[in-house]
Amino acid sequence: MDSVPYYKFPPMTKLRIRPPAHAADEEYVAKYQLATSRMRELDKDSFDPLGFKQQANIHCAYCNGAYKVGGKELQVHFSWLFFPFHRWYLYFYERILGSLINDPTFALPYWNWDHPKGMRIPPMFDREGSSLYDDKRNQTHRNGTIIDLGHFGQEVDTPQLQIMTNNLTLMYRQMVTNAPCPSQFFGAAYPLGTEPSPGMGTIENIPHTPVHIWTGDKPRQKNGENMGNFYSAGLDPLFYCHHANVDRMWDEWKLIGGKRRDLSNKDWLNSEFFFYDENRNPYRVKVRDCLDSKKMGFGYAPMPTPWRNFKP
Ligand code: C2O
Repeated sequence: MDSVPYYKFPPMTKLRIRPPAHAADEEYVAKYQLATSRMRELDKDSFDPLGFKQQANIHCAYCNGAYKVGGKELQVHFSWLFFPFHRWYLYFYERILGSLINDPTFALPYWNWDHPKGMRIPPMFDREGSSLYDDKRNQTHRNGTIIDLGHFGQEVDTPQLQIMTNNLTLMYRQMVTNAPCPSQFFGAAYPLGTEPSPGMGTIENIPHTPVHIWTGDKPRQKNGENMGNFYSAGLDPLFYCHHANVDRMWDEWKLIGGKRRDLSNKDWLNSEFFFYDENRNPYRVKVRDCLDSKKMGFGYAPMPTPWRNFKP
């Protein structure tokens, strides 16, 4: 692995602007569907690193004990690796999709679950027969059902408006009250050679995990597949849309101010991951190179963040 070169950002002309999924127009949906079905077609060659299943397996490899570093299992959840790993993962996934439709400005949509308008499965993912659809989802959560961002498997019969209000209050708590400093937001330190899973950051814990569990098909699958389990989550296209919003929260959190800035710890900054780029070349990347989304070539179409005013 030492021979794998470091990644250099290719020259770019225009930022990829990730749109809120619920508001995307049909032209965008068609492009995204086409890119995803082309990616699924690549599964015919089960070793093609750009195939949909191989891409999903990247997630599985980084969290189910496939890699060992310094004799210890590598785990990208439950620690400060959570935000940077998933940012890099989406970065390459997005570029691969774009290259499959020859669109260098293609950007993933974000599941805007922190805004009342986005608190349901985005309609483009809920159309049966589309490449963005996944059958292994909780069927009672389809067709506009309001998501409970605090969901850990228990169904609530709270009125919709109340669920939305609770969600906003929960967002305020996880972004503002409980995360005034980097260590609370990013999660516990996980330097090279230490035990995995030292502790989650506020957003990884809630709502990130509840959104997974709520989406997965707990009623019909053994292990909450697909979204409700690490090994299978990447097999649902909605995963990448969910994580785009998780990633957006990183930017939003820094905008709140105070001591909310990136960690400066060297172990964090120098942590590395491996990915294939859209030309099937393997690269290694460092956490220090993913702190500024603009520098990486993408940004988020702005949406209001009403939770900022939901101080309990
Ligand atoms: Cu790698 Cu949402 O988990």
